[in-house]
Amino acid sequence: MWIDALQTQLASLPEPDAAQPGNREALKRVLEPALAQAAGLPQRPVGMSDFMTSQMAGWETRLPYLYIDWADTEEFRADRAFFLDAVLRHCPDRGVAAVLGCGAGGLVASLATAFPTSLGLDVSLPQLLLADHLVRGGAISLQIPEARWRQVSMRGPATPPRGAGFIVADAAALPFAPGSVSLVVTQYLLDIAGAPTFIAQEINRVLSPGGVWLNLGLPFRRSSDPPAAGPLRSDDMPAFLDDLAFDALEIRRRRAMFHDLSALDEWLPGLVHSTIFFAARKRGDLEPDPVARAFVDHAARRGSAILDMIPRFIAGRRIQLLEGWSFGSGGPRPRVELTSANSRATPIPGPLSAFLHKLLSSIDGKRAAREVLAALGTAAGEALTEDDFVVLLRTMRLRGWIEIG
Ligand SMILES: C[S@@+](CC[C@H](N)C(=O)[O-])C[C@H]1O[C@@H](n2cnc3c(N)ncnc32)[C@H](O)[C@@H]1O
Repeated sequence: MWIDALQTQLASLPEPDAAQPGNREALKRVLEPALAQAAGLPQRPVGMSDFMTSQMAGWETRLPYLYIDWADTEEFRADRAFFLDAVLRHCPDRGVAAVLGCGAGGLVASLATAFPTSLGLDVSLPQLLLADHLVRGGAISLQIPEARWRQVSMRGPATPPRGAGFIVADAAALPFAPGSVSLVVTQYLLDIAGAPTFIAQEINRVLSPGGVWLNLGLPFRRSSDPPAAGPLRSDDMPAFLDDLAFDALEIRRRRAMFHDLSALDEWLPGLVHSTIFFAARKRGDLEPDPVARAFVDHAARRGSAILDMIPRFIAGRRIQLLEGWSFGSGGPRPRVELTSANSRATPIPGPLSAFLHKLLSSIDGKRAAREVLAALGTAAGEALTEDDFVVLLRTMRLRGWIEIG
């Protein structure tokens, strides 16, 4: 279903002028072959879990990420030098490097010069397809809407790095074996992830003994913190890292340019951010929490305790499903938007919104998970299987929508 939605989105990408379908054609050339292949994969009834792990909405507004990473910008050169220097100082072990929430993937290519394997993970399939195209030495020319549709040419390295690759995955559910990764990098991820603690737990799990985590990004919130507490900053990092079995190697505030588009348009000076940089070394393994264990047991057919647990919304957090109408030259159209934990409003396609409405209203902090599943009935068009429902529940928890107890 989300592949269909991506195709529809591709066909309706905004252009400066209908007579110049530049971006749409350029993006289609890169994305369509892979989307056509993915469309042949088995589809789930509602596609809700797929939807949540694919983050289909929003990618088309992220063209500045491609520009920064692949148009030889000063901003990217500074970030690359910063990370490669941190790698030199903190990472003696050079096995697998993984960049979580890698976006346009420039850093994945840079780390491939220092590690035999450098993997970029992101929930956005279109972003990764574009990143992969560029990392393999491809080129693309796009018009950047933010810069009055200035045309920008981007090109990957003349000699594509060996060992660079991309995986569509959720940073809170990494597809890596325990202890298999030497370096994890997160850049501008923890602040937008609904529940950064789950990502940190996964980083701990996949890092090898003594493996290193480098983070650069805005102050972030844990879903368990009271809403009034404000985001965690660099002076909160020693305790945050210690709780997650990491030893801090270096923690500091770094003032950094973010998306400086002024070379394209002098009216767009970009932002200067105060970011947290830390380098941390894994001290030991964390015990999985009982809810995580119940999910693992369910997947391994060792029990269904997870269905007896009660899902509830987290105090002080809101998931909003805003149903309304948009009016324009095409006449009135119904429109549903979802705003969750830390994310921006995402438009929701029709059938999914009815399902989401039923699902979110069935989670009342009293019903056990199996009662929520029963209440859903055929809201998905056909009854959701228990397995699909449990995957959905787990994803909602990992995204910081709900807690389970
Ligand atoms: C703000 S962008 C930063 C991109 C890149 N790291 C950079 O600094 O240019 C955040 C990226 O994280 C991805 N993302 C968000 N939540 C994620 C999750 N739970 N797992 C993996 N990727 C995620 C988004 O799709 C997006 O590409």
